[in-house]
Amino acid sequence: MDNFIFNNPTKLIFGQGQLQHLPKELETYGKKVLLVYGGGSIKRNGLYDEIMKLLKDDDFEVVDMPGVEPNPRLSTAKRGADLCKEHNIDVIIAAGGGSVIDCTKLIASAAKYDGDPWDFVTGKATPKEALPFGTVLTITATSSEMNAGSVITNEETQEKYGWGGPLNYPKFSILDPKYTLTVPLDQTVNGIVDTMSHIFEQYFHTADNALFQDEICEAALRSVMKTGEQLVKDPENTELRESMMFAGVWGLNGFLSMGTRGDWGTHNIEHAVSAVYDIPHAGGLAILFPHWMKHTFPKNPQRFVQLAVNVFGVDSADKTNEEIAMEGIDRLSAYWKGIGAPVTLADYDIDDSKLELIAEKAAVNGPVGGFAKLSKDEVLTLLKASL
Ligand code: NZQ
Ligand code: ZN
Repeated sequence: MDNFIFNNPTKLIFGQGQLQHLPKELETYGKKVLLVYGGGSIKRNGLYDEIMKLLKDDDFEVVDMPGVEPNPRLSTAKRGADLCKEHNIDVIIAAGGGSVIDCTKLIASAAKYDGDPWDFVTGKATPKEALPFGTVLTITATSSEMNAGSVITNEETQEKYGWGGPLNYPKFSILDPKYTLTVPLDQTVNGIVDTMSHIFEQYFHTADNALFQDEICEAALRSVMKTGEQLVKDPENTELRESMMFAGVWGLNGFLSMGTRGDWGTHNIEHAVSAVYDIPHAGGLAILFPHWMKHTFPKNPQRFVQLAVNVFGVDSADKTNEEIAMEGIDRLSAYWKGIGAPVTLADYDIDDSKLELIAEKAAVNGPVGGFAKLSKDEVLTLLKASL
């Protein structure tokens, strides 16, 4: 195992009816609240009214900040930071999914900074302080509600990068599966794909002696697949939503990768694709991951065999390692296709005209991924295979 220090300070408040804790959690930080949300789903499903009622009953002063777009933009985070400065905000609520939460993370740090917030995303500057924030999660996918990651798009330069740091952890996150019942089918599928992809990214590591971590990842994948298959047929089932919500947090809150460092190359490549084409993150992952696996198989055949047998139930008798691994990858593709995920870049009307640019963006910091370490040319090969 690799050495590690683990500290995840986010307080998780999970289950039906837990929104009632919101005023008490906020009170620790003050009465002036910025409420950050997206394009209006929280107004349509009643969450907005519930939050406003709780806050009004307890005399909070609320400043509204709607309009965070999927693949949140730098300009939106700047708008939020300006609101915080203008209204002297004490604490922020992010009510939404990964995009709203990621944007809030940048708003929180930018509110205490006079320079360009993009400096934090590129690593040119490190936040010294940030406003506290909590989340009310409405869609299961990223685990941003319990991690320090934030992925921001600079729309002017067509760059999309993840950044992080200790100030990016939410102080608290309220996870009531009820608020995810209105998530449309395509976004529900995206959540399943993203959660599985996070587990894959951590499963493909280079550490020795990590049987415990590996077997937890395998069990997590099996259970997400089982729940996911049922959920797409029965999207109004609160228990299934609850199971996915729990799996989604675990997918990327750090527990699965203690002592191991994963790959994350497919995520980097996908971020480059969605920087150029603004497609849903998980849609890109569903297309790219099987190709990444096929391309990367020779780097550690045994790992792919283990995945095929332990997760996808491939019968290994009388087959070569390559046959077993490829059967596993084909079963993954069939599963994702079966629940309605996209299969090729053409599904998003993406042709070969900008693949070179995407590969360049993905490989901007050198070899792509900790496990596979792909060159720019390998990324390009993989992108061409995904057309
Ligand atoms: O904007 P609204 O109207 O709220 O609609 C959203 C949005 O259109 C809708 N939605 C959310 N909750 C809903 C709902 N619709 C109906 N009912 C509800 N209860 O769903 C759409 C997608 O929302 P978004 O927040 O974009 O989805 P997701 O949670 O998948 O976040 C994706 C973003 O997170 C980044 C991605 O790159 C992408 O930018 N990621 C963040 C990570 C992190 N912070 O750790 C890791 C991930 O790998 C990922 O890269
Ligand atoms: Zn992801």
